[in-house]
Amino acid sequence: MSSTRKFFVGGNFKMNGDKKMLDVIIENLNKANCANTDVVVAPPTAYLSYVRGKLDGKVSVAAQNSYKVAKGAFTGETSPDMLVDLGINWAILGHSERRHVFGESDALIGEKIKYALERGLYVIPCIGEKLDQREGGTTLQVVSEQMASIKSNVNDWSKVVIAYEPVWAIGTGKVATPEQAQEVHLQLRKWLADNVSDAVSKSTRIIYGGSVSAGNCKELAKQPDVDGFLVGGASLKPEFSDIINARS
Ligand code: 13P
Repeated sequence: MSSTRKFFVGGNFKMNGDKKMLDVIIENLNKANCANTDVVVAPPTAYLSYVRGKLDGKVSVAAQNSYKVAKGAFTGETSPDMLVDLGINWAILGHSERRHVFGESDALIGEKIKYALERGLYVIPCIGEKLDQREGGTTLQVVSEQMASIKSNVNDWSKVVIAYEPVWAIGTGKVATPEQAQEVHLQLRKWLADNVSDAVSKSTRIIYGGSVSAGNCKELAKQPDVDGFLVGGASLKPEFSDIINARS
């Protein structure tokens, strides 16, 4: 593999788990070989401190969302300042479920990215097309628009890992083929070269999400522009350790 980008695997637990289940996941993660991979897991907000307290330092913890200001009358929200206070260094932002279940716009996601970066968090902005957009041939246009909105809110790309998650592949068991993933990742890298810089294009990790499993991760990980994964369902299972080592 010619890339100097360190392999990156995120586990997005979504709204799943209780203490008993998390204990099993944490035990597996503490035993996992993370030598060649940056590993970040995102438990539900309620369990952030619980998980951070029990996990080895070799695994980072992310919030699944964060708001665009420090504090105030925003019932139900969590600020990056609070995450920093808890020792949580990462936030996933603009996940497809935030966009499509909770109606978050590119503009709001951009503001959240900007503020999280200002507070010193690392961010994982998520992008991806819906099935009708793929079938209508507008995938590149959709992800380019999402990237443009992210770009206008980022001034330090070393703190950003882009997650390409085609909506039709999330939670469906319908994984993108390695060729489909590589094609979009290459286009995203080209977009970064054309719109940010060559250096950022070469150094920014672009990870794939959508029905990643122990069975399909190795072929996906062979693609030159797939720098890792954002894993949903399989991150709750023992096979997550195999995905962490997909390229080892
Ligand atoms: P699944 O791996 O369950 O398809 O979820 C992917 C995802 O949304 C990760 O953020």
